[in-house]
Amino acid sequence: MLLNKLHAALPDITIKERWPLYQLCTLGTGGEAEFFAAPSSIEDMKILFSLVVSEGCPVYVLGGGSNVLFPDGLIRGVVISTQNLKAIEWRTPLTVDVDAGFKLPMLMKEVREKNLAGMEFAAGIPGTLGGAIMGNAGAGTHGVCELLDYVIAVEADGTIKTWNLGDINYSYRKCSLSDGKRLIVSARMTFRPFTPGDEKVLESFLLRRGSQPHGLRNAGCTFKNPEGYSAGKLLDDCGCKNLSVGDAIVSDVHANFILNRGHATSSDVMKLIEICAEKVYDSTGIKLEPEIKILAPCFSV
Ligand code: EPU
Repeated sequence: MLLNKLHAALPDITIKERWPLYQLCTLGTGGEAEFFAAPSSIEDMKILFSLVVSEGCPVYVLGGGSNVLFPDGLIRGVVISTQNLKAIEWRTPLTVDVDAGFKLPMLMKEVREKNLAGMEFAAGIPGTLGGAIMGNAGAGTHGVCELLDYVIAVEADGTIKTWNLGDINYSYRKCSLSDGKRLIVSARMTFRPFTPGDEKVLESFLLRRGSQPHGLRNAGCTFKNPEGYSAGKLLDDCGCKNLSVGDAIVSDVHANFILNRGHATSSDVMKLIEICAEKVYDSTGIKLEPEIKILAPCFSV
């Protein structure tokens, strides 16, 4: 049985059973994981990931949970969180090694404190570095992948592989590492000295963030911006603000945000996503693509 094998291979790791997932995502919806674990070392992560994969069991990798939607009900398999992989070590005045579970806002703070620049566009973006790399999180045309020197990942066969930036394809909210075949454990990033001009850029990103909803649970932008358009404006123009399904409601501040105003379920959110996408398609012919990631297994049989 999988649980026995996990206990035998990882005696120091707590494996939770039927673990409620709503507490692990910013939207606060979703069912339970059959098994859940959050190793705090890269070595344990490697053992856990490769064992679960070799057992042919579905495995889901979770970062900060700020951009995901879990299904309702019981999720068969193992949800692995990187939340306890959070080491950070500066190698040179400009270069840092950061573990996948390190929080992006904390990294932003470190970089600013060291008087460095490069990630102003990430101001106000929640989540972990690993999740941010997988989705090339960012604002406008900027994304976290542009700051990478290399990424270290545990591959499905249990090997540890270094992915140099030149081997990674990334574009707007996309990264080739997110094909479900690996788990990112750390990355090396290089910044540049902060200049007075960077202050203005930082302020402008903070200002734009300030015009987004605060307070209620949400998962950031619901849809990606289609080329040449703003998803928020399209949704707004199509009358999506305040549309709701159960306790899931489209923000009246920014139409590209869905909020959980109480006890929304993931299926409420999914239905609302579909309704919004349909409204925009019917009036404009533009197909919106969700930015929120609906949790899918890396490997399943
Ligand atoms: N707008 C409306 N109505 C709305 C929402 C927006 O008319 O309901 C208009 C705004 O007034 C503005 C334009 O649409 O003229 C663009 O809106 P905004 O400045 O908010 O930027 P965005 O393109 O909607 C992007 C990122 C955000 C990031 C902001 C600010 C995407 C999908 N979204 O939003 O990222 O915070 O820029 O830097 O790329 C996220 O990744 O989760 C996210 C929210």
